[in-house]
Formats: sequence, C-alpha cells, structure tokens
Amino acid sequence: MLKPKFYLTTPIYYPSDNLHIGHTYTTVAADSIKRFKKLQGFDVFFTTGSDEHGQKIETKAKEMNQTPKEYVDGIVANIKKLWKMLEIDYDAFIRSTDEHHEKAVQDIFVKLYEKGEIYKDVYKGYYCTPCESFWTESQLKEDHACPDCGRETHIAEEEAYFFKLSKYRDKLLKLYEENPGFIQPESRKNEMINNFLKDGLEDLSVSRSTFDWGVKVPFDNKHVVYVWIDALSCYLTALGYGSENEEKFKEFWPADVHLVGKEIVRFHTIIWPALLMALDIPLPKKVFGHGWILFEDDKMSKSKGNVIYPEPIIELYGIDAFKYFLLREFTFGADGSFSREKFLQRLNSDLANDLGNLLSRTVSMVEKYNEGIIPSPNAEEEFDKNLREMAVATASKVEDHMEKLSFSTALEEIWKLVRRSNKYVDETLPWVLAKEGNKERLDSVLFNLSESLRIISILIKPFMENTSSEILRQLGITHESLWEDSKKWNEAQVSIVGNKVNKGDVIFPRLDIAKELIRLNEANQKLIDERAGAQKKEEKEEEPKKEDPKEEIEDLEELPEISIDDFAKVELKVAEIIGCENHPKADKLLVLTLKLGEKTRQVVSGIKKWYSPEDLIGKKVVVVTNLKPVKLRGVESRGMVLAAQDSSGNLSLLTPLGHVAGGASIS
Ligand code: MSP
Repeated sequence: MLKPKFYLTTPIYYPSDNLHIGHTYTTVAADSIKRFKKLQGFDVFFTTGSDEHGQKIETKAKEMNQTPKEYVDGIVANIKKLWKMLEIDYDAFIRSTDEHHEKAVQDIFVKLYEKGEIYKDVYKGYYCTPCESFWTESQLKEDHACPDCGRETHIAEEEAYFFKLSKYRDKLLKLYEENPGFIQPESRKNEMINNFLKDGLEDLSVSRSTFDWGVKVPFDNKHVVYVWIDALSCYLTALGYGSENEEKFKEFWPADVHLVGKEIVRFHTIIWPALLMALDIPLPKKVFGHGWILFEDDKMSKSKGNVIYPEPIIELYGIDAFKYFLLREFTFGADGSFSREKFLQRLNSDLANDLGNLLSRTVSMVEKYNEGIIPSPNAEEEFDKNLREMAVATASKVEDHMEKLSFSTALEEIWKLVRRSNKYVDETLPWVLAKEGNKERLDSVLFNLSESLRIISILIKPFMENTSSEILRQLGITHESLWEDSKKWNEAQVSIVGNKVNKGDVIFPRLDIAKELIRLNEANQKLIDERAGAQKKEEKEEEPKKEDPKEEIEDLEELPEISIDDFAKVELKVAEIIGCENHPKADKLLVLTLKLGEKTRQVVSGIKKWYSPEDLIGKKVVVVTNLKPVKLRGVESRGMVLAAQDSSGNLSLLTPLGHVAGGASIS
C-alpha cells in the first residue's frame, strides 16, 4: 500500500555564525515530528539547510579575509557536524549556494518577470542592513528603529526590481480565512493581519545592487536576487524543483508544515504564499511560528556573552536528555527562558527519578524474583486495570497534542504514565509479595510493569530514540515496534511473556546539580573561547576553578525564580565559629570549625583575603547545612557559609543581628 506523504522543513539557517541552542530547538522539534510521522506509517521528507547569500555574510567574510564561500563553508561544516551529533534525521540539506538551486532561483525570477509579476523601478526607503530589509515609515519603531531587530535604519535609494505583492493582499486575507490552520498559533495570524495586511501591502523590492554576494538576475547582471526570494525557494529546490529530476517535488510538495521562529513568520505567510500564487504552485498547508528561547529572559547574543551552545550539553549529558529538555520545558508557540539549573533539575526529576528508576527497578525485580524471565499475568485486580487503561489510552492523547505541535504536553502525557507506573510499584509492593510467597500476584505485577514500559518505550521513540531502544533491549524485545503497538496490552503479536530481560547500566544517573552547573558553565565558556580563537588559558597554580566556593556563589546568580517550596529545600542555620585555620594547600581558603547546637562540622570557605582566623573565632555566621559534602583541595567541607559580595568582588560574612544560639534555624 502507498504510504501517505508528509513534507516538513526548518528554516535554512544563516551561516553568519555558529548555531546556538535557539536554532537547535527548531531542528530538534522538526526531527521529532519526522520520527513521529514515520512511526505512524507516513513517508516523510524533511528539509533543512543554510541561507548563504547576502550582505551580512559578504561583510563578515571580508572581516575574516576570506571569500564568502570560504567563510560559509567553515560554518556549514560545523552546522552539519552539530546535526550529526544530534542524530538529526533530515533528508535534504539544501545550501542556497548549490548550483541547481541558484539556477532554479534565476528561472523563477525570469518566469515572474515574463509574467509581469516583477517590474523595474527606483526604491527609496528605510533600510536595515543587518536584516537586509526595507521598511516603510509606518512600520518603523521609535527613532526609526527596525521593527524586527530594533537597530537603526537609514534611508537608502536604489534601482530595483519589484514584485507585485500589493495585489495579493485580499488573496492572502482570504487564504487565512478559508484555512484557519494555515498560520499557527492563532495569535501569529492576528499579528500578520493587524501589523502588515490591514492597512494594505506595498510592492516588494526583490533585487539588490549594492553588493554582489547573491544569485545574479540573469538579464540584468548589476542586480542580485533579494535574499528572501532566494532563501524561501530552497523549500522547493530541496525537492529538486527546477532541476532535471523533479520526482521528489511531485511526490512531496506542498509542504505539510514549515517550522519557523516568530520573527520570520511574516516572510513565510505573506511573501511566500504570494510568490507561490504568482508561480501557480500550490501553497504549503501550515506555517508554525514558534517562540524564542531566551537566556534568563534575555535575548541570546554574542555581544552579551550569554549564548548557549548545544555541543557541551550533548557531550556531557547525551542527545536524549537534551532533546527531551528542549521539547518538554518550553511551550512551542511561546517564548521560554533557558537556564542550566532547569535543565539539570529536569534531568534529575523526569529522567533519573521517574523513567530511569522505573526501568531499573522493573528489570531488577524480574531478575530477582523470576530468574530474569517476564512472567505471564494472572487475574486482573483494581490497580492493574487502572494502569492498563491509562497505558493504552496514552497514545491517542499524544497524537492529539502532536497534531497541534504541542510537544511539551505530549511528553507530559507520557510522563503521567511513567509516574503512574512508579506509583503502581508502591501500591502493589512486589517485595512484600515475594516475602509472602505470593507468586501468582507477583507474576502479574512484574508483567504489568514490563508491559507498561514496553508501551512507554514506543511512546518516547520520536523524542528519545536511543533511550527507547535501550528500554526495548532491556526488556528483551527484538521485533520492530509500530506506533499502533503502544495501544495494545498483552496481545499475541506484541507479547513479551517469556522474554529474558537484559539489565544494563543506569540510563540517567542522578546528578549533583551544584557540581554540574560549574562543569556545564565551564564547558560552554571553553567552546566560546575556542570559537573566538582565544588562547587557551594556562592552568594556574591556585585552586581549581571548580572547587572555588566563590565561583559557586556567582553561578547561583543564574538561578530562575523559585517557589517557597524550592526555598524550603535549602537548610540554613546559624553557626558559631569555634575554630579557624589556614587551608594547608590553598592560599585563598580558610578551614572553619562551626558549632551548631551540640554538633560541630567543618566548612572550607574562600574568604581568607578578607578575614584572618583570629577575626572570626566566636563570631556567628549563616551556613547552608544540607549541601552535599565536597573536598576542596583535599579538605572536606560540609556546608557553605554565606557572604555578601560588593561590586568590587569583596566579601562580607552574614551574621544575625540579635543573640541567637548556634544551630538556630533560619527561614
Ligand atoms: N535565514 C533565515 C531563514 C530563511 S528560511 C527560508 C533566518 N535564519 S536564522 O539563522 O537567523 O534563524 C533561523 C531560525 O532560528 C529562525 O526561525 C529563528 O527564529 C530561529 N532562532 C534563532 N534564535 C532563536 C532563539 N533564541 N530561540 C528560538 N529560535 C530562534 O532567519
């Protein structure tokens, strides 16, 4: 039987710089859609690529003393390396410098010119160089700033070719009205209507003569084709449009969905459909404008030094944890704020505690109580029924969420089942059943847990392929699973009864967040330095960065807003300093002996620059008592004393105002 077709695209990225976590977000989302649709039985084609022309690239290459092509080749190699590292399953990587693409763009331009859709005139307007966009006065923000990037625009005049965009205004409004799903989410549609279409559309300048790096207008060599016409056409040329072999184009066009960031929705829902109408090419079915990933509510930018690269995260914690986090943490249509803390917390709670724990305890119990063989179930009891009903109903809920590209709720739905299964262990207490010798009931419990995990492994497959395979391997399942198999419970074709389980390593080890924050921060910084061509810093003789408590204080400044429950997790106490010595091996550290009620404990602190031991003995300080113990240059530290830091980096220890005994709690 012929499989239904599905075509999806990410934007083609500007290789003006290396890609960060924000760009990765779109590609990871697209990859999970591809895998989901494939699992459902669709024949899927997924296009990504690079948008290599334009003034910005030309300028950047000049700065680097390279030709534009030399410059982009380097970045494109890094982009491809990143997608490989993330196991992105794309079918076409289209470069706008590919020969067949450039030729097709020229043909498109000629065709539009010959049809009278493009004409020559003089353009005068407000031009934003970084965005390569002309704006009308009414579109500008205060102080003539660019409405897209907020930077200053300047008046520019040039002879140019124009596309008759204005005549498509009504057709576009009709398109939106007749196809309510065309622009998603709904709010972006209103934005397009109110900001761009309501007051009429102007014709679009579609050629540039102020720089060279682009596709030449074939009948007028002074001009290059406007970069957006060039870039949008990649969605067609990736399928072979305009080449000798248009088979894929015939099979897969029109696109089922273009995934794009919110700032480029305008190009995809106004210019793109108008252009396709002018070319008599069918229109894409949907454009989804997702939000931005911010770094702690701020836009990521190299100049602010807050760019988060994906490579260090993947290297330290693996692809699946990274993909899971991106899709689970952020609501696809809205902006979201990234922090390393959030990432590590999710890893610990959802992946280590929930999923990892469920797998390891299930497989261990099958090994311990049934010689590693998954038993067959006996009569169904209330808890079993409840678990089964939830398990077989999850797939269709995930389908509904995926239809809306609501990845985070799809994953939340799956995790409800993971948590339900863990609860089932607490309800049925298999170790008690084993002790009582209740083999019949124990068999049912072991089966039900394994069956639920089989279903979970299929449900997570589009998002976490490697983890899915590992669960299947541990459950001894060798046949290929289909999406529909996640709706079946104990049916012959998917039976796991009699399988020999294969216990493996813990799939997601629990992490010490404080330590990992430092590791992650350092790894990202190292990559930033490497990419900036910075000299690798010499290892210094002083304390390693990782163990410097002051460094930890700085890192905590990156924490997001927390609830009172989060705050309650930190145990703060008043302590009296009853002993204080210089650290034997480190110049900046003091070793404090603290008295908390009847107990004493040792804490190492990086405050030697500001205090000497005799200043401190007898003083009361505030200490975090439930930090995991660490060794600082070989001396154990069980807690952290709190200090305030002024703008010059000087530390001052915190102390209670009144008389409070050591050991008093702080809240
Ligand atoms: N080259 C154009 C797209 C042409 S498509 C025919 C372009 N490239 S881009 O590299 O600047 O951006 C590509 C995509 O990455 C956009 O969809 C953009 O929204 C997305 N992101 C860039 N930074 C982002 C975040 N911080 N968060 C989420 N996505 C963001 O535009």
